[in-house]
Amino acid sequence: KRIAIFASGSGSNAQKIMEYFKKSNEAEVSIVLSNNPDAYVLQRADNFEIPTHVFDKKEFRDTDEVINILKNLQIDLIVLAGFLWLVPKNLLAAFPNKIINIHPALLPAYGGKGMYGDFVHKSVLANKETESGITIHFVNEHFDEGETIYQARFKIEPGDDLEMIKFKGQQLEHQHFPRVIENLLKKMKSNL
Ligand code: GRF
Repeated sequence: KRIAIFASGSGSNAQKIMEYFKKSNEAEVSIVLSNNPDAYVLQRADNFEIPTHVFDKKEFRDTDEVINILKNLQIDLIVLAGFLWLVPKNLLAAFPNKIINIHPALLPAYGGKGMYGDFVHKSVLANKETESGITIHFVNEHFDEGETIYQARFKIEPGDDLEMIKFKGQQLEHQHFPRVIENLLKKMKSNL
């Protein structure tokens, strides 16, 4: 099985996924794509000798270039790991039920347009929540809305600040995301 990762930034999740599948027989990460030519995730992909592709908004929205690249590589699963753009309809249609995302909160709470990065955790803090978590979900034409695949939660203790909440969420993401991807790929295989 072949995975494509889309990421816009640092790519710490992408790093964990590339490490995990380097050692797995289930799948390989075949390409890393980004909308951001300066994203550190591209450096990380280079370190694993995984090919990369950078696209701009016009290419992504108005052409089939990205789809053609993914189809040529026979990609089975597209993983959004900190990817900030909405996925256009043509890409969704080309890979039905094969695009997943990770979100640093317990959806449907704290999701939607504008709910990304620190703003998610700041909102959780402002509302004095006693827990938060992560959600891995299928991607549809709206931000953070497709069917949930997996959630994990953590407690927010009195005194936890933004950094602590971010850290707890990131630990959960790194711990679970690669394994959830592997399970999904196994299920896809048994459905053939
Ligand atoms: C993660 O918190 C993820 O939930 C969100 O974007 C962040 C990406 O972090 N969608 P990184 O680039 O993997 O470090």
